[in-house]
Amino acid sequence: MHLPFLHLVIIVLLIPWPFSSVLLCAPVSVLVPGMRLAPDKTLTSDQGSFALDFFTPSNSTENTYVGIWFNDIPLRTIVWVANRDNPITDASSAMLTMTGNSSLMLSENNGHHILWMANTITGSNSSAKLLNNGNLVVLSSDSDMLWQSFENPSDTILAGMPMQATHKTHPPWRIISWKGPEDPSKGRFSVGNDLDTPLQSFIWNGSVPYFRAAVRNGYVSSNGGLQAVSPLMYLTIYMGTNGETYSTFGLSDGSSRIFYKVDYSGKTTIWRWNTSLTDWTLITSWPAYRCNLYGYCGAYGYYDNTQGIPTCKCLAGFDPSNKTEWVGGIFSHGCRRKEELQCGGQDNFLTLPAMKVPDKFVRPWNKSYDDCKVECSKNCSSVAYAYANLSTTYIDGDATRCLMWTGELIDVGKGAIGNENLYLRLAALSRKGQKSIVIKVIPGISASVLLILLLACLVWSCKFKGKHDKKGRPKRLIMGDLRSSDGLGEETHELPFISFEEIVAATNNFSMSNLLGEGGFGKVYKGLFHGNKEVAVKRLSRGSGQGAIEFRNEVVVIAKLQHKNLVRLVCYCVQGDEKLLIYEYLPNRSLDTTLPFQF
Ligand SMILES: *[C@@H]1O[C@H](CO)[C@@H](O)[C@H](O)[C@H]1NC(C)=O
Ligand SMILES: *[C@@H]1O[C@H](CO)[C@@H](O)[C@H](O)[C@H]1NC(C)=O
Ligand SMILES: *[C@@H]1O[C@H](CO)[C@@H](O)[C@H](O)[C@H]1NC(C)=O
Ligand SMILES: *[C@@H]1O[C@H](CO)[C@@H](O)[C@H](O)[C@H]1NC(C)=O
Ligand SMILES: *[C@@H]1O[C@H](CO)[C@@H](O)[C@H](O)[C@H]1NC(C)=O
Ligand SMILES: *[C@@H]1O[C@H](CO)[C@@H](O)[C@H](O)[C@H]1NC(C)=O
Ligand SMILES: *[C@@H]1O[C@H](CO)[C@@H](O)[C@H](O)[C@H]1NC(C)=O
Ligand SMILES: *[C@@H]1O[C@H](CO)[C@@H](O)[C@H](O)[C@H]1NC(C)=O
Ligand SMILES: *[C@@H]1O[C@H](CO)[C@@H](O)[C@H](O)[C@H]1NC(C)=O
Repeated sequence: MHLPFLHLVIIVLLIPWPFSSVLLCAPVSVLVPGMRLAPDKTLTSDQGSFALDFFTPSNSTENTYVGIWFNDIPLRTIVWVANRDNPITDASSAMLTMTGNSSLMLSENNGHHILWMANTITGSNSSAKLLNNGNLVVLSSDSDMLWQSFENPSDTILAGMPMQATHKTHPPWRIISWKGPEDPSKGRFSVGNDLDTPLQSFIWNGSVPYFRAAVRNGYVSSNGGLQAVSPLMYLTIYMGTNGETYSTFGLSDGSSRIFYKVDYSGKTTIWRWNTSLTDWTLITSWPAYRCNLYGYCGAYGYYDNTQGIPTCKCLAGFDPSNKTEWVGGIFSHGCRRKEELQCGGQDNFLTLPAMKVPDKFVRPWNKSYDDCKVECSKNCSSVAYAYANLSTTYIDGDATRCLMWTGELIDVGKGAIGNENLYLRLAALSRKGQKSIVIKVIPGISASVLLILLLACLVWSCKFKGKHDKKGRPKRLIMGDLRSSDGLGEETHELPFISFEEIVAATNNFSMSNLLGEGGFGKVYKGLFHGNKEVAVKRLSRGSGQGAIEFRNEVVVIAKLQHKNLVRLVCYCVQGDEKLLIYEYLPNRSLDTTLPFQF
């Protein structure tokens, strides 16, 4: 399930909550000066949803902690721990007290050994209270909030807990994982907002990014507004009285029993209580796959989540930097440009749909889409841009979101999370330096536009054919993803940038063992791309006499006839005298029925 708000991590709290103006001296819900909470006592929120008391992890015989848990479900689920790094070792002398100077203090040895303290400004006659949303607060005698556990979280985010999305004056905080399943001390992993932009959040392993959420692209509501992000939850973005922006999630069904946490292994999860199962069920978790980890596919590489098993691929126009490593599953060196950019209007931008856009962007302010495009096009050092309208100005006062990249493109993804166009600068044909023509068809484009593009492509290809043949330079003509508006939905089977070399490799150099059959105008081979994608490659005989015109006709006819029951042309390739058509491979049908055009 895709819950966009998940990627709006970083929350914090500034919502005024209701509390009674008269603090009752009920020992179960309020701690006032002079009262002590001993290990056999429990502090309960006034409506009973949460409780705070002393607990010992099941694996520990000696370490005791003070924590908050869901009081109204049978499984004790700790959502906050006071003394994470300072366990109580002598529980018999431990106590939680409200001191005369407004500090909430956990100590052992009759107050001589302080283990933990809620740091507040000095006051007097304050009280500590557990609110029904799970927030432990210290209130002054005037009911001002002096301290709250929601601003000092452990590893869990509860509904209503605000996450800071800006850090103008207040440094944002993170939730920090436990060290182990039974060890609440601070672990390696934390979740919080990017310190450079409020538009994205991270899971960090120590100080190193471990996973990056998608850049926020509009899934936010205006101040105070609600936006359902799933049937269960909605998200609010608002400006706190301190000028910082916050986001917080709420629950549609009113149940408090959904929480979000980062665990000791770095997994970030959302859980929901299932009454009939009397257990927590996982709503979602991330990172989902190894290749989704931050930068796993290297610079200019991206992970493709749209296919069965997500794998690393190079962005269109790029090749693995080290093919040996890439094939061996080492992607860290990423990809490199096949053809260098030439500035001065010779480059063009390729639209990559459904992308999680890269990290390390710059954000020109207050730009319309057109401004954004111009800004990026005119700057030779910019290699890509992306654009979105935010539905709120509550992040930095600007509802436009123009992003530009000037360095390496790192941590790019396709599918699963993030779903927007990335416009990638590529070397384009110029009269002098034409090397390739690349057109990628965006799903949803109409068939007629497609055909026009196709024709245009072929005209170019013919026009420049002679020159290149003379130079002996390889020429590619590539058509990606012809199956655009066939109603197959998200599932695209693109084979962008197929070069002749790749086809040679995929078909084992057109080996006999790969030969599927022979038609009037050429042979058909079975090919394997990227180790798992089966295709049928039709290699038109060189002596067939079929020139560019005939070839164009075939492609056009096939493109026109794209139909569910016919085999699909996925792309084609022209290099010198070689003309290749690449079809989807359908093993269950005979070639006669699947390859309709035996030219
Ligand atoms: C229990 O604690 C011991 C010692 O601290 C540790 O070696 C073991 O892995 C822990 N078991 C679990 C399930 O956490
Ligand atoms: C409050 O009193 C405790 C001991 O009673 C002391 O350790 C702590 O420093 C005091 N806090 C402030 C803010 O003065
Ligand atoms: C402390 O606060 C309580 C409740 O707000 C009030 O009833 C009591 O009089 C206060 N005591 C002092 C000494 O201010
Ligand atoms: C987290 O970082 C540490 C230190 O660099 C490393 O040893 C460990 O493998 C990392 N953990 C994961 C899950 O990547
Ligand atoms: C609870 O779990 C049962 C069994 O897995 C499932 O059928 C049911 O839909 C779940 N209920 C909710 C509210 O998630
Ligand atoms: C590619 O990687 C392999 C294995 O790490 C290394 O031996 C080789 O030198 C690299 N090739 C290049 C061109 O860097
Ligand atoms: C963007 O425009 C808004 C509204 O006009 C303005 O308040 C804001 O200061 C502008 N931001 C920048 C960085 O120019
Ligand atoms: C291009 O963008 C970079 C990075 O934002 C910036 O430093 C540089 O000044 C820009 N160049 C031009 C000509 O605008
Ligand atoms: C952004 O908003 C403008 C004006 O409301 C609209 O024309 C444009 O299509 C929107 N762009 C995107 C990417 O949603």
